[in-house]
Amino acid sequence: VRVARFEPSGALRGSLRAPPDKSISHRAALIAAMAEGESGVERYLDAADARSTLRALVGLGVAVDEAPAGPGAIDLRVRGVGLRGARSGDGSRRIDVGNAGTLLRLLPGWLAGQERGSWTLDGDESIRRRPVDRVAEPLRLMGARVECRDRSLPPLTVEAGKLAGITYELPVASAQVKSCVLLAGLLADGTTTVVEPTTTRDHTERLMASAGAPIETEAGGPVSRGGRVPPRRISVHAAERIEPGELGVPGDISSAAFPLVAGLIVPGSEVLVEGVGLNPTRVGLLGIANRMGAAIEVEEGTWSGHEPRGSVLARHSTLQGTRVGAAEVPLAIDELPLVALLGCFADGETVVTGAEELRHKESDRIAAAVEGLRALGAEIEALSDGFAVRGAGELQGGTLDARGDHRMAMLGAIAGPASRDGVEVRGIDAAAISYPEFEADIRRLLSR
Ligand code: S3P
Repeated sequence: VRVARFEPSGALRGSLRAPPDKSISHRAALIAAMAEGESGVERYLDAADARSTLRALVGLGVAVDEAPAGPGAIDLRVRGVGLRGARSGDGSRRIDVGNAGTLLRLLPGWLAGQERGSWTLDGDESIRRRPVDRVAEPLRLMGARVECRDRSLPPLTVEAGKLAGITYELPVASAQVKSCVLLAGLLADGTTTVVEPTTTRDHTERLMASAGAPIETEAGGPVSRGGRVPPRRISVHAAERIEPGELGVPGDISSAAFPLVAGLIVPGSEVLVEGVGLNPTRVGLLGIANRMGAAIEVEEGTWSGHEPRGSVLARHSTLQGTRVGAAEVPLAIDELPLVALLGCFADGETVVTGAEELRHKESDRIAAAVEGLRALGAEIEALSDGFAVRGAGELQGGTLDARGDHRMAMLGAIAGPASRDGVEVRGIDAAAISYPEFEADIRRLLSR
């Protein structure tokens, strides 16, 4: 692991283009692979996780050509093999998903509906701790044969077979599980319906619709005055084929969130991020930060494919503590450690609950955020399903161990310039999983 220091060296100023969205990159490649014919993907993420997806698809017989599209991005031409055309090979084909949880959860949905073959998905040390029973269960209900280690962990083996549509109520609000079931639904007899307890990111639905898949979404009524989000039902019908197309990937708000939050907490800062995806199911952090009093300006621009996109400007702000509950959690799931950091600089208490899922990410992100920030001097405590921070308006600094988790590495890095003594991040190299240009972008904003 590489160690890097981030000093309290003044304000962050300037603009940058957000790296391509990781979540949408995985999905765009997968939908293009499942289509019959050639698709284009504009600004696919050139980072380790998204590379794992391309490698997996090539192993399944999909032809992929790439061309450089600026730092951290590539343009793809993808020759899809059709819904039932994934190559099976002899025995069980091994697929290395690396560190990519999204690939691990989505791909089995496609593979389960193939006519023949068997595939074993495995990955790095962190992947081996990520639960997969959440996708094994609904796929089995659809008729698939799925095996995993100790009932819940990778390696996961999925066999091709005949699938039947089901109605599945998600036990946890997970876009990955929803997506897996919807993809399998295309290959299943009849209709497959997923009911989500609260709204999760809807990129799969948008991409499937753009490929002509028979999919429809039905909201369970208006949001109540208490802010409760009603369950959503998404249905997909059996399909013979889906259509190729020209797909666009907007910038990743989950990556952009790091320089933006740095802008909010380092005095004198003004950071503009351009080309950021503004899908309402992803912008939870902006709403939370707004409530805390953050000076954030959002300007919607031209869309990227079926996704809204625009620019976000963040200026150093005086912040107040806030509360975040279950309905808001999926809309900001990967940004919640950043809410903890914001909480350190806010007046009063910041409390996040209903976020037990954070324990099952690339690391246990409740433990990682609490122990990581406490090592920097924060007054923060873990809850079973979240954390509580008492804002001190400052952070002393120290050493933060990324635990191999890209978002923890970036969290430590942006705490540095906001701290009194600076922060040393152990394992900054993990940032390359989702945002290879991260360190260069931050250092450039700091040098203005
Ligand atoms: C993702 C969904 C979220 C998120 C992950 C990416 C996706 O996970 O934390 O980083 O691309 O669908 P869950 O759906 O499991 O909550």
